[in-house]
Amino acid sequence: MAVGVFDSGIGGLTVLDAITRRLPDLPLVYLGDNAHAPYGVRTHDDIFNLTCAAVERLWAEGCDLVILACNTASAAALKRMQETWIPADKRVLGVFVPMIEALTERQWGDNSPPREVAVKHVALFATPATVASRAFQRELAFRAIGVDVEAQPCGGVVDAIEQGDEILAEALVRSHVEALKRRMPHPQAAVLGCTHYPLMESTFQDALGAGVKVFSQANLVAESLADYLVRRPEFLGKGQESKFLTTGDPKAVSNKATQFLRRRIEFQAA
Ligand code: DGL
Repeated sequence: MAVGVFDSGIGGLTVLDAITRRLPDLPLVYLGDNAHAPYGVRTHDDIFNLTCAAVERLWAEGCDLVILACNTASAAALKRMQETWIPADKRVLGVFVPMIEALTERQWGDNSPPREVAVKHVALFATPATVASRAFQRELAFRAIGVDVEAQPCGGVVDAIEQGDEILAEALVRSHVEALKRRMPHPQAAVLGCTHYPLMESTFQDALGAGVKVFSQANLVAESLADYLVRRPEFLGKGQESKFLTTGDPKAVSNKATQFLRRRIEFQAA
């Protein structure tokens, strides 16, 4: 009954941790494509091909349902995968929609026309590929009207985290927040639209100021997975064992993950 969790690197562990807290008995197989991270500066074709390869690897682990715990893959590849590639007995779900539902105060499956919502000025922090896809604005427009979104492509942050350089990651976060604030001085809410960014959430909050509500995806995705599995239990795959796989160097990835998550995590070669 295992579920697969995929990210380009260690960022998806923020989602995995939240799923583990919400569904402690569910075996999870994590795959980090660290050999090819970051995805955020790649072309959409490249992201599509890498994401399909990773998802196939997780299917081979007995995970019929895979969560793309990666906004870049969700924004740049998921729609094409769902339309052209995923067989009927498998499911791949992204991390975008649960967050947009939370921001627009909607329940799952509420397909009523777009309406006014409480937040009017939203800052989006994401990778260059996610920002370029405009997937966030597209999904938001289905659900809300009158929301002003200012997106900041946060070049370098995922790289710094993947290299284990917390000081550089912090400096980059502060400079990206400053750049955004020059264009939108008073955002009401900020969306951390990359699963690596919760690892720097306190820096984002500090740089934005206490009055800005920071939306981070992990708990929202965990809640929506729990809900999905109640509705579609047939997608619990036959895998039984939790494990952490990486296409990178297992020792180096284990050390970085342990540093950022502040608990010991052992990766094995994918
Ligand atoms: N964690 C991925 C995301 O949510 C990082 C993307 C990357 O590899 O650049 O977008």
